[in-house]
Amino acid sequence: MSNVRAAVFASGTGSNFQAIMETESLACEVALLVCDKPQAIVLERAKTYNVPTFICDPKQFASKAEYEQVIVERLQEAEISWIFLAGYMRIAGPTLLQAYEGKIVNIHPSLLPEFPGIDAIGQAFKAGAKRTGVTVHFIDEGIDTGPIIAQETVTIQEKDTETSLKEKIQKVEHELYPRVINQLLQSK
Ligand code: GAR
Repeated sequence: MSNVRAAVFASGTGSNFQAIMETESLACEVALLVCDKPQAIVLERAKTYNVPTFICDPKQFASKAEYEQVIVERLQEAEISWIFLAGYMRIAGPTLLQAYEGKIVNIHPSLLPEFPGIDAIGQAFKAGAKRTGVTVHFIDEGIDTGPIIAQETVTIQEKDTETSLKEKIQKVEHELYPRVINQLLQSK
C-alpha cells in the first residue's frame, strides 16, 4: 500500500468516495474521511471500507476558522498530505487553504467555469446546454474556482432527462477522479 496518506472530504452520498476506494493500485491510502453532515450516507460507506471518519459539524463552531482549525489538527494528527473533495459542499477558508496549500483537489460536475456552485447538472440541463462535463481542479477561496487539472465533456442529447444526464456525468466522475488522483501523486 502507498505511504501517501490522503483524506477525502464529503457531505453526501459518497459515490465518488466509493469509486476512489474501489480503484486498484490507488497511489495513496485514504486514511480519513472528513464529513460535515452527521447523517450523510458516505459515513456508512466509510464503515464498509474501514476508513476512519471525522464528523465535524460547522454548526458547533462560532466561526469557519475555528471549525477548520479543528479539522486541520485532526488531519495533521493522521499525517494527511493530500485532500480530495468529493461532494464536500462547503467553501474552504484560509485556515484550511494555508495548511494544505496546493494539496486540495475538487471534482465538480460541469465544465468549469460554466455552472459553478450547487446543482451544476440541473443548471446545465435547465439552460438547454448541448454539452457539459466534469472538472477536476485545485481549489482556491472561490466557489468551484482554482487551476484546472483535467476536464471531460459529456454531450447532452435530445432524449436525455436530468436523471440520465446525472448518470452519465457520474460515470465519467467515477473514472476520471481516481485516474487524476493517481496521475497527480505519481508526478510528485
Ligand atoms: C458529485 O457530482 C460532485 O462532482 C459534486 O457533488 C456530487 C457528489 O456526489 N460536487 C460539487 O457539486 C462541488 N461543487 P457523491 O456524494 O455521490 O460523490
